[in-house]
This record gives sequence, C-alpha cells and structure tokens, in this order.
Amino acid sequence: MSLPQGFLDELRARVGLAALIGRRVRLQRKGREHSGLCPFHNEKTPSFTVNEAKGFYHCFGCGAHGDAFSFVMQTEGLSFQDAVERLAGEAGMEVPKPTLEAKAAAARQASLLEVVEAACQVFERALRSSDGAEARNYLERRGLSGRTVARFRLGFAPDRRGFLVETLRAEGIKPQQLVEAGLAKQDEDGSRLREYFFGRIVFPIADRRGRIVAFGGRRMGEGGPKYLNSPDGPLFHKGELLYNLKAAQEGLRDAKQRLLMVEGYMDVIALAQAGFDAAVAPLGTAMTETQLALAWRLVDEPLICLDGDEAGRRAASRLIERALPQLDPGKSLDIAFLPEGEDPDSLLRSGGPAALKARLEASLPLAELVWQEALGPIPPATPERWAALKAKLLGLANGIGNASVQESYRAFLMDRYYVARRPQRSFSKQAHRGAFQGREEQAPDHKKPDLEGQRRRQERECLAILLNHPAFASLHLEELANLEFQVTELERFKASVIDCLATGPELDSAALRRQLTSLGYAALLDQVLSSAVYALCAAARPGASEEQVERMLETVLADFAKARAVEAIREAETQVAEDLSEETLASLEAAKRDYEAAERRLLALAIP
Ligand code: UTP
Ligand code: MN
Repeated sequence: MSLPQGFLDELRARVGLAALIGRRVRLQRKGREHSGLCPFHNEKTPSFTVNEAKGFYHCFGCGAHGDAFSFVMQTEGLSFQDAVERLAGEAGMEVPKPTLEAKAAAARQASLLEVVEAACQVFERALRSSDGAEARNYLERRGLSGRTVARFRLGFAPDRRGFLVETLRAEGIKPQQLVEAGLAKQDEDGSRLREYFFGRIVFPIADRRGRIVAFGGRRMGEGGPKYLNSPDGPLFHKGELLYNLKAAQEGLRDAKQRLLMVEGYMDVIALAQAGFDAAVAPLGTAMTETQLALAWRLVDEPLICLDGDEAGRRAASRLIERALPQLDPGKSLDIAFLPEGEDPDSLLRSGGPAALKARLEASLPLAELVWQEALGPIPPATPERWAALKAKLLGLANGIGNASVQESYRAFLMDRYYVARRPQRSFSKQAHRGAFQGREEQAPDHKKPDLEGQRRRQERECLAILLNHPAFASLHLEELANLEFQVTELERFKASVIDCLATGPELDSAALRRQLTSLGYAALLDQVLSSAVYALCAAARPGASEEQVERMLETVLADFAKARAVEAIREAETQVAEDLSEETLASLEAAKRDYEAAERRLLALAIP
C-alpha cells in the first residue's frame, strides 16, 4: 500500500528521532548530534550518531544508516507499513485510509482466509476420524506425539474425490471459493472440481501473522510426488514465506533459541518436538532471496542446516550466491553441515538432540564458507592457480552490495589468501619481482600509512622509468604531472622531467638526460639511474620490455591513486566529524570508492 509522501515527511518531522532511538541506545549530546553505542553491531566506543535536525542516524563502524522508519523496522523486525503505523499511533497521526480498491481486495482476502481456515479444520477432523487411522499410524511411526500433531495442526485429506468440496459446501462455502483459495482446480473439461490434496497428510502453512494460507501434503505410500504444495495465489506466494515463521518468531523470545533454517516440513516439526522452537523451512523450493530477508528481519545470524553430501555442497554454493549481494552490516549466516544422508529429523531420531547440537556448534560463518568453497579441498599448486583463486575471491567480494560489508569481506578474504599462500612465498616473490616490494604482502587497509622509505623508493623507481622510457611516459604525461611525490627534491626533479617531455615529446632517453644534466640534475640522475633501483624494479632498467614498462607505469599510477584516496578518506573523515551531513558523507563514500577502484586496479595488475 503506498502512502502520500507529504504524510511520511510530516510524520518523520513529528517523531523525535533522538528520543525514539534514545529508548534503545544511551545517547549523549555532542554539539548538533547525539552519539552512542551502535545497536546494529557490537562495539565498545561509540561510533553511532543521530542527527535530529536532518532526521537520520549513521554508524561509522558498520555503515548502518537510515531514518526513523528504518530504525523501527530493523530494531523491531516490523514491515515498513507496520513501522509507519506504530510511529503514527505514537505521534497521534492518522494513517491515510486505503483506497476503495484496496478495501475490496482486503475483504476478498479475508473471505479466502476463512475458506482456508475452514479447510484446515476439516483436515484436522479427518485425521482424528476413522478415515485417518492409517495417517495417525504413519505419524506415530515417524515419532510425532499427539501434542506435536495438534501444535502444527497436522491433518489428513482422505482419498475420496469431492470430499473437501462437499464438506465445505455443507458449511456454506461455494466451490468457486475453493479454486480461488488454491484448494481445488477445475477439471480439464471444466465439468467438475478436483481437490489438490487427497490421500495425503496435510501440513498447514501459516503466513507471517499466523493465519493459515496454504498446505503442503505428503503421500504416505508409494506413487506420485512425495510432497505437493498449494499453488501460488492471492494468499500464498511460495518464495515469500517460510514454514513456521510466526511460531519461530515466538520461539525466539527464549534467548537460548537460535533461528534454524532447514529443508523440510518434517524437519521443522521434529525440531520443535525436540525443543528447538525456532526452526523454519522454505516451501518446496530452494531458499529464495526474500526468504533470507525474512529471516534477517528476525535475527542477525540465522543458522542454516544443509546435508553433508554433494547436494548439500551444491546448496551451499547457491546459498552463497544468494546471500552475498544481500548482506548488510551485522547481517550474516552460519552454515552447519549434517552427516551425509541425514536431515535434522533423521539425525534427531538416530542420535538425539545431542548429535544435532554437536553439528550446529560446528557451524561455519558465511565468510569462512565462502573462503573454503573458493579454496577447494587442496590449495593451488602453481602461481597461475593462486592468481585465479585471488581473482575469484575478489569477484565474490565485489558481488556484495553493501560497500562497507564488501570492504570487510575483501580484507577478510585477502587475509586468508595471504596466510594460505605463505608457505609458497619465496616462489611468489620470484613471480612478482619487479613489482614494488612489500605492496603484495600488505593486506588492504586504507588506514595503514605508507612507509616513508617505501614511498621514496617508489618515487625513484617511477623517475627511472620516465628517464629510461620517455616514449611511454609521454603517453601518460598528464597523469604523471598530477602525481604528488612526497620527497620534495624528487617532486621538483619530476616536474622538470615532465616539462622537458611536454616541450620535447620526441626526446629519447639520452637526449632527455643531457637536457636534465644541463639543468643541474646530474647528481639526482646518478641517484635514480642506479643499480640499486634497477635491482628492485626490472621495468626501470634501460633494456626492459615494452610490456614490462607499460604494466609498471600502470601500477605506479594506481599506487599513487590509492595513496591519494587514502588522503582523501582521512580528509573526508575529518570533515564528517566536524559536520555530519549527507554531503560530507557522500564525499567520504566517494573517497572510499576511489580507494577501492585503485585497489582493484592494482590487484588486476598483479594477476598475470
Ligand atoms: P525431502 O525430500 O528432503 O523430504 O524434501 P523431507 O522433508 O525429509 O520429508 P520426509 O522426511 O521424507 O517426510 C524437503 C522439502 O522439499 C519439498 C518439501 O517442502 C519438503 O519438505 N518437497 C520435497 C516438495 O515440495 N516436493 C517433493 O516431491 C519433495
Ligand atoms: Mn526427512
């Protein structure tokens, strides 16, 4: 339902953001802002700021950012609509009435809900009746207690065509309503109605508010698909709901419970019977993005149970693909692999709750799984394969939508990568000879200042390339002119080299050196064109190949771009600290993007 923008603005203005957030976070006034410990991640020193006047909060630690509505949505697991209603109620404002059409749709939905609820009761009764003897036996054999059956409102659809249609007709429900509610469909020739469920155990599926909207049905014997599910319709969208969602949400009030995501209805039920009250499952499909988002509204880190076999591994890769783009600061997943061939239901039956607990405790955080999946069972044996692994890891990190999580993943994965590669280090050093020493071994971290000596060396190497390969330097003259060397005498020297090349683009190396000698740079020429410099940077040598030179120049430029971005980030951080506004935050974000772009360029260049 859409609400007029004017109403939302007015409501936002009326809600005291600091007061609202102050109910959950102890805030301290600091000039125009309030600050406190971020409620979205664990921290010991406050990096969470509230700007009352501008109506937003921002966390410098985890990147959480939003307004009053998103705060209520995130902290209380409410939908946008519900958050608006909550805040409007508190502010004494009336939420604008829905349109006539919306009202009609709501009324129709209400009547369909009644139909489905009535069907649920029919199935429950049938399970208890003489019709349901075999079904009761089946459930008992599977270890379900009467209490569990009642708690999940399990039922039975007898193996008689027309049973549901006739029983409900007697209750005044028209057959056509069964079609709309997804319980029956018209025969091919349109002559009769056929129920979807007959001769099956029936698992009622409740929506987020606990109202029954659909069913899953399991056959007891052989023949036909093992499970059937209600078709999607006005009440039910398979991919947008989770089995047992509402009950799991209630189960989570007990702080010892974790949100478990499993594959099947029977798993959820067996878990609940064994005391795991907060389990959910998708509805006959693989886990969707929407279902992950639903779980993240309840908890930060749901625990996903997968089979330990090949299918479970495949499910894990699909899960990674779905989860990464959606990660937000603080939101993640843990993944537990069960023994091969077991699901939670069967493991509980064979090993009891302790066996399952042990598996859950051995779960992996998503980031760890991403790393392990990418690495595979054996570490790469050649530099080329290490390079391919690095590219893959960076590709995975790049797939993360949230910039701050993306940055953390890149750092995490590169840390893992460098640690794993360490035994091969002497080898890889050989492979990287000619690149600036030290850069490769540094984990990306824009807060780490470049070492003085390293900068001086880089600047000398850069000059040596310009002097020995003036034709290439001429191609990048403008970019080179914009580089700021930190060593003053080298900066002055570079400016003169650029001047010479700008006025004489055809100069070869010898002519260039003659010109510079006549300008008084003889001593610096000796210092730069020395065997000490050549030893560390092959591309700086007079005889270097075109490819080496081109690559090294690109690397130098990216290296400097990165250093500039680090400066810009520091500057922007200072500005943000002085004046927290959308503008200062935007320039901070822009600087971080520049940093990441430079980092990507460097890493791409490091991959042969
Ligand atoms: P499983 O085949 O793992 O079954 O399907 P299960 O949950 O362990 O059920 P039991 O223990 O054999 O009774 C997992 C889920 O996949 C969907 C259902 O949602 C099921 O719970 N499914 C499975 C279907 O929708 N159709 C099928 O034919 C099979
Ligand atoms: Mn099973």
